[in-house]
Amino acid sequence: MGSYNIAVIPGDGIGPEVINGTCDVLEAVADKFGHTFRFEELLAGGSAIDTVGEPLPAATLSACRRSDAVLLGAVGGPKWDDLPGNQRPEQALLGLRAGLGLYANLRPAVLHRQLSEACPLKDKFVTDGIDIMIVRELTGGIYFGDRGRRAGGSFPDGSPKGQEAYDTEAYSEAEIERIVRVGFDLAMGRRKKVVCVDKANILESSRLWREVVGRISTEFTEVSVEYLYVDNASMQLVRHPGSFDVMITSNMFGDILSDEAGMITGSIGMLPSASLGAPGKPGMYEPVHGTAPDIAGMDKANPLAAILSAAMMLRWSFHLAKEADAIENAVAKVLSDGYRTVDIAYADNFTILGTKEMTAKVIEAIA
Ligand code: IPM
Ligand code: MG
Repeated sequence: MGSYNIAVIPGDGIGPEVINGTCDVLEAVADKFGHTFRFEELLAGGSAIDTVGEPLPAATLSACRRSDAVLLGAVGGPKWDDLPGNQRPEQALLGLRAGLGLYANLRPAVLHRQLSEACPLKDKFVTDGIDIMIVRELTGGIYFGDRGRRAGGSFPDGSPKGQEAYDTEAYSEAEIERIVRVGFDLAMGRRKKVVCVDKANILESSRLWREVVGRISTEFTEVSVEYLYVDNASMQLVRHPGSFDVMITSNMFGDILSDEAGMITGSIGMLPSASLGAPGKPGMYEPVHGTAPDIAGMDKANPLAAILSAAMMLRWSFHLAKEADAIENAVAKVLSDGYRTVDIAYADNFTILGTKEMTAKVIEAIA
């Protein structure tokens, strides 16, 4: 029977509502399986800006470092939109990713059988279902590369360009290798298909990605490897989403493609994520949906993405597979029983529940 310290960052918008309920779900798992989860609540994002004047207080980062895993709701909101780039709530996320060394972002995009009507694609395009694991590099590339402003020089006709802003995409072999290994390892436990998404027809950094993928792939002879340019990948995602298994890609391409993949499952309110660093270090788990300020505090938010993120935490950080299954099966049962939050109520024969009632149904299904 284990005992685990969980750093909890409720954050802004609907973050606190979905995270409170998720902690209750974890308590139910603890009761059933005889574990102890200790929750330490921490400030980050807009609420930290309001309380202590900065998005990621040092105390938050150090508490996260000491924890066994971090559970985060969401950060940001219109209230803080006018702050300069380096003081925005989103800086908390980047600071946590960098500060905890979370280089591997796992974003599963799954079309739940019970939610097939939520998929915006025509049935004929999703006959094989959708079960994609996006493996996004999270601590490198253009998000963290050299950036700034400088004088822009002139056009060939001599007219001045004015000031210029630049951001840099740079990847080292070691950074690429560690994320690629995560992808191949995951593929071994899945359908053994890796797609590497890049822009190797233009970008030198992408050409290095291909070299590294080629090298690593020789260690995984059972795994098939394909390379797609990112523009083509975004097209294939809506044409043959069922053909994808594991998709490995850079920070920026992964940001964009994971939203697209999320959308084709029809329910951003259902999507969990895990951000992992070196083995044995705390991972961070968060729903993909963000703060949804328009419905914050209204008990309308779908708690299932946060609850499924907690399941990922149990599976990946604590190696509690049975317990993770218990949460995922409970979510499946609640959906099969016809319960929906408004965001996933695509037909009128469902029972619509608020955040609290939906959470309670999941807890009931675990017990
Ligand atoms: C995400 C978000 C973040 C990102 C933002 C909020 C910084 O879009 O987690 O996908 O771009 O990584
Ligand atoms: Mg994003």
